[in-house]
Amino acid sequence: LKFRKIAVLGYRSVGKSSLTIQFVEGQFIECYDPTIENTFNKTINFDGQDFYLQLVDTAGQDEYSMFSRSHTVDVHGYVLVYSVTSMKSFEVIKVIHSKLLDMVGKIHRPSSPHYAPPLEPPCFCQMCRIPTVLVANKRDLSKQRVVQTEEGKKLADSWGAAFLESSAKQNDTTVQIFKMIIQEIEKA
Ligand code: GTP
Ligand code: MG
Repeated sequence: LKFRKIAVLGYRSVGKSSLTIQFVEGQFIECYDPTIENTFNKTINFDGQDFYLQLVDTAGQDEYSMFSRSHTVDVHGYVLVYSVTSMKSFEVIKVIHSKLLDMVGKIHRPSSPHYAPPLEPPCFCQMCRIPTVLVANKRDLSKQRVVQTEEGKKLADSWGAAFLESSAKQNDTTVQIFKMIIQEIEKA
């Protein structure tokens, strides 16, 4: 059994909790209850292996939020969520991603000018990939869509991340999200 910790991040009300709860409990929550922070656990089989997932469902952030270091401690992979019905959420996810790069980069890059990297750094260069899946949620609300699939795909490509459109009303798309992040973690 492999333990994997995954953080779910994004602007408020994009469906982070709904996606997580749909995946863990198989139900869609219609009402909106802003999250402070919740942790969920679920074991799933992927590629013939069992994974014990710890999912951290975080509070919605905006471009001004402090990016908490706790979002990165022991985290193996990131699910970054925006809503196809909100251009604001698409802009905010770019800011969150760059804060994430900064934070994770600092962990691996000591600031001392005298620091010489080891000859064969296991994970030192800044190209060191952060396993990430970019999720475009609420795809069922097609009449309210303002962010096109291609825009999301392009953004994910620029990060070297995986991309998926989902709906918290459709269980299979939520299962796909978490299988995809396991895949990203395994290949990192
Ligand atoms: P914060 O915890 O405040 O950051 O919000 P959140 O990102 O966890 O959003 P949440 O899951 O609470 O969903 C916000 C609202 O959007 C709720 O009313 C959900 O029912 C609704 N919602 C979430 N995902 C979807 C979806 O895929 N489709 C539709 N139609 N509604 C959704
Ligand atoms: Mg929430």
